[in-house]
Amino acid sequence: MTGNLRQTKWVIHSDRKILDEAAADILIDVLNKVQNPVIGFATGSSPLGVYQSLVKRSLASPALLERWSHVHGFNLDEYVGLSEQHEQSYHAYMWNHLYQFLPVKPENIHVPNGNGDLISNCLAYDEALAEHGWPDVQILGIGKNGHIGFNEPAQTLSLHTHVTDLTENTRSANARFFTNEQEVPTQAITMGIADILQARQIILLAFGEEKREALIRSFSGSVSTLCPASFLQMHANVTVLTDKEVPELK
Ligand code: F6R
Repeated sequence: MTGNLRQTKWVIHSDRKILDEAAADILIDVLNKVQNPVIGFATGSSPLGVYQSLVKRSLASPALLERWSHVHGFNLDEYVGLSEQHEQSYHAYMWNHLYQFLPVKPENIHVPNGNGDLISNCLAYDEALAEHGWPDVQILGIGKNGHIGFNEPAQTLSLHTHVTDLTENTRSANARFFTNEQEVPTQAITMGIADILQARQIILLAFGEEKREALIRSFSGSVSTLCPASFLQMHANVTVLTDKEVPELK
């Protein structure tokens, strides 16, 4: 094991269901232990099974279900220019896949606002995160290019919530959710790298062969802005859940 790996916890299993349940276990532990839990949510394909598990297990346990009324949810990012009602907005994603099934309080649900005065929206989002004390646990997916949130590979990275241009790599990866690639927004609002690293605990979901290379680049070597997920090596409590063996990291 390398020094980096000693710090990062790895859960590797070929069965996605087992990984989904393992991620849900971590989240449920936080839900049960923290009085007013702050949870950082991601969207996209990776967390879908985790959200299904959370809903199923919460509906099966009145005590766990009740815990959701104390949750403050903060999403990592949102497209610029889509209305909240747009079916591909991350607002809509969260209600469709998670919140509609749970007794969350709408006033406790935070997703960056990708419309109106974007600079003020970014500042307001960071203020709300700080006011609530930052996430007790942050769920992350990873882009094939190593992005986390929409912090895309670049010469420099922003620390806090900001407006970002989406790379062609990311737009074409996300085109599967839209009718065609032209419809994918060109910009997003995303929490910054320092915001993400403020979470007390981080769960990184990396499923499929297409994420293996990004995982290797993120955890095998030096920290680089050209692979934003490599900054996770600096965090003391990251659990990576992946269905691919990564012998390169041993
Ligand atoms: C989504 C997000 C992105 C995704 C990443 C992986 O809120 O912040 O970083 O986690 O693009 O997306 P999927 O899971 O669709 O492969």
